[in-house]
Amino acid sequence: MNISVAAEEHTTHPCPALVVGCVEDDFPADGLLAPLDRLLGGGIAALRASGEFTGRLNRVKVLHTFGRLPAERLILVGVGKRGELTAERLRQAAGSAAKGAGVAGVTRLSSVLHRAGDVDGAIGASVEGFILGGYSFSNYKTVPPDERPVEGVTVLLPAGAATADAEREAGEAATLCEAVCFARDLVSHPGNVATPSFLAEKALEMAGRLGITCRVLDREEMERLSMEGILSVAKGSHQPPRFIILEYLAGAAGKRPTVLVGKGVTFDSGGISLKPREGMERMKDDMAGAAAVMGTFMAAAGLRLPVNLVGLIPAAENLPGGGAYKPGDIVRTMAGKTVEIVNTDAEGRMLLCDALHYAQRYKPAALIDLATLTGACLVALGAIATGAMGNDPALIKGLKTAGEASGERLWELPLWDEYGELMKSDVADLKNAGGPHAGTISAAWFLKQFAGKAKWVHIDIAGTAWEEKGRPYLPKGATGVGVRLLVEYLRKSAG
Ligand code: BES
Ligand code: MN
Ligand code: ZN
Repeated sequence: MNISVAAEEHTTHPCPALVVGCVEDDFPADGLLAPLDRLLGGGIAALRASGEFTGRLNRVKVLHTFGRLPAERLILVGVGKRGELTAERLRQAAGSAAKGAGVAGVTRLSSVLHRAGDVDGAIGASVEGFILGGYSFSNYKTVPPDERPVEGVTVLLPAGAATADAEREAGEAATLCEAVCFARDLVSHPGNVATPSFLAEKALEMAGRLGITCRVLDREEMERLSMEGILSVAKGSHQPPRFIILEYLAGAAGKRPTVLVGKGVTFDSGGISLKPREGMERMKDDMAGAAAVMGTFMAAAGLRLPVNLVGLIPAAENLPGGGAYKPGDIVRTMAGKTVEIVNTDAEGRMLLCDALHYAQRYKPAALIDLATLTGACLVALGAIATGAMGNDPALIKGLKTAGEASGERLWELPLWDEYGELMKSDVADLKNAGGPHAGTISAAWFLKQFAGKAKWVHIDIAGTAWEEKGRPYLPKGATGVGVRLLVEYLRKSAG
């Protein structure tokens, strides 16, 4: 993606398409739209008067200018009511405009959308919306789809304005969103391609490019460390497991790191407790936590964030092969706690418990895991919010605040001790599934037993990792959720 900034009059700026934000029922009176409307002979005012386009949030109107303007097209996008304008609304409007551009076959945009109102971070938010809304994954399409992704955006400032700050803001947003798209790509690749070894190769490649340290443990090394939780899940598949360790230490020397853990189940069939066949193909996204962690490293290094960051990714495939772990098996985890397997489909926690235990050696300042862990989270919160539970209110608060700012909202569920009753086993220290009630919480309670003394938060992205219908800047499919949330958190809360 090519992002640039130009300080030029928007009425004389030549481009394939100019994106302009329209405040609901309040255009084209403003300084940006009025001169455009004059050049178009009152056409924009007429559109509004007829009710064809009112400026409602995320409505888009693509107009040809037929030589009346140096811009070949105008992309009018509604931003909603003036008093309600936020960075998130600009992000959405930009996403909607990018979609409109794609339908029209336009791949280069110039934009004054960030000037639709007085919003902090308007340039960054609009660039995010353009890149994320214009994303598409067509690696496996022999004939590329008609809708082409946005390739370039020029942010227009008033003629004569200084460009340096805008260039930094736009550039940072682009760096961040490239990392989100990297995470989306990883999730979009099918299970036959995105295996645990593929994730490890991608991590090594990305780390090598950005000066991040990356180490990958293979099955033998994991056996030496007694990572039986991860190894048990991997037993049913011919794909060998991997344990990926990323280290980006750009913060103060000796400062305890933030440790990120990402669930990397590259395909979740459920194992012997096989999932129903309908919709099972979606379970290629069960490594979205891993993708979020890898994307966060890519962004942190790209943005040169001054933080100490460690990433841990247990990666395995959950299949019902002849060697598969079974209901009734008892697994001794790396931490020494034994777990009775009552459902092989509750495999995520079996991977995460070893990774959380491994994290203890870093004495984390904060320990954050991301996982597509429970269908129950999708039932509880839908695709609108991510679930969060933990043992430290301040850490949860910091993440919730980052969620509001980034548009990747979190909602906390309780993690009271009483929920632990659900996870008691007659034959082992714990069982791995607690029945139909409070499924998201009982999973988190299980993980809590392995978080040690660390300040820990578990983030359940089962509902938010995959978008079923498509939203303004979340096209159908992988969302890359977690990257923008964590980068915002690292910018504000970790130092
Ligand atoms: N990967 C799934 C959770 C999931 C389900 C994510 C639907 C996205 C959409 C996870 O491994 C799983 O199967 N969880 C079980 C837990 C249960 C057996 C306790 C579930 O949610 O049914
Ligand atoms: Mn499962
Ligand atoms: Zn799973």
